[in-house]
Amino acid sequence: MFERIDYYAGDPILGLMDKFAADTNPDKVNLGVGVYYDEDGKLPVLECVKTAEQRIADPISPRPYLPMAGLPGHRKGCQELLFGKNAQILQDGLVATIATIGGSGALKVGAEFIHEWFPQSKCYVSDPTWGNHIAIFEGSDVEVGKYPYYDKATSSVKFDEMIAFFETLNKNDVVLLHPCCHNPTGMDLTREQWDTALTVIKERELIPFMDIAYQGFGKDMDSDAYAIRKAVEMGLPVFVSNSFSKNLSLYGERVGGLSVVCPSTDEAERVFGQLNATVRRIYSSPPSHGGRVVDIVMNDEALHEQWVGEVYAMRDRIKAMRLKLKSVLEEKVPGRDFDYLTEQNGMFSFTGLTPEQVEKLQSKYGIYMVSNSRMCVAGLNSSNIDYVANAMVDVLKD
Ligand code: LMR
Repeated sequence: MFERIDYYAGDPILGLMDKFAADTNPDKVNLGVGVYYDEDGKLPVLECVKTAEQRIADPISPRPYLPMAGLPGHRKGCQELLFGKNAQILQDGLVATIATIGGSGALKVGAEFIHEWFPQSKCYVSDPTWGNHIAIFEGSDVEVGKYPYYDKATSSVKFDEMIAFFETLNKNDVVLLHPCCHNPTGMDLTREQWDTALTVIKERELIPFMDIAYQGFGKDMDSDAYAIRKAVEMGLPVFVSNSFSKNLSLYGERVGGLSVVCPSTDEAERVFGQLNATVRRIYSSPPSHGGRVVDIVMNDEALHEQWVGEVYAMRDRIKAMRLKLKSVLEEKVPGRDFDYLTEQNGMFSFTGLTPEQVEKLQSKYGIYMVSNSRMCVAGLNSSNIDYVANAMVDVLKD
């Protein structure tokens, strides 16, 4: 009966976690999945999250179904983080926000919404992008295309080509953008480039869909939201999917949000209703635990401040690892340019290693990166950085 079912080849990122776990090499290093590990190589539990967990645990309370859109405090937390605490659009009721099952859940609900209400729209993703962007939109029967983004030869953004490509798109086509910490390249647009890109998006009447999974890991919470807030200022309708996986270190809780900025309150109400309907038919309502943590941390002033400090500490440690790796590689591989390591933002570095070099790192050294050469810099620490640098020097000699 099931013989005709295709085998699943596995996910290129999540599959690495299983391979890494099964590797018996005592020196193995996980630079594959986009997860922040601390200086001891451990997944941190943030102090602000510990406090929130204590509040949730005492007293242990009943677990009713949440509303389809999730907890109001979770939704408010998403809105204020993305658009600014006193944003006029929030006061004017122009933003339809639902809490979602991680950033992936937000993308899925958004993709379903686009398919239903903008059936002619295609979705364009950066070349390259996070693989699940393509899978999620195609899985919702939205046709996906790619726009030029990253130039491997120069380790920079192909900005002019990207803009020229946007000029060819049709009204209501969706452009999926990474407001900060581009996944997988780590190369972001400058503010001036965002201004130009959003102007073209507005002129062509395209729909910007901003996926922000690393807010706080680039420059700071507000700067990382520049593209989102600029689009709002320019009066664009915007979809924003956000994730708390990385910046609250709540990966397994699956907490995120989907916000749609609308031109009027009536439209925001209609959109909010349809987002609820989409949730109902996919998973009914979100789970409550992670949402309660988000609600507590985002809405308690002292905990929020503590949280921001904790995110910036993670950001700074990643930056220090970038600097260290760069200096070792520059010394040991003269003549090769490693500036990209400190020009890129967030957890990821596109190293430019060939698939063969990536494979050799894995088989010879137990160092795991994604085959497209993406390294999660957040997996480096003072105990493994020399080992990784020396292994990279070795494979770069080939
Ligand atoms: C990543 O890009 O590694 C993370 O977003 C985890 C994932 O689900 O792929």
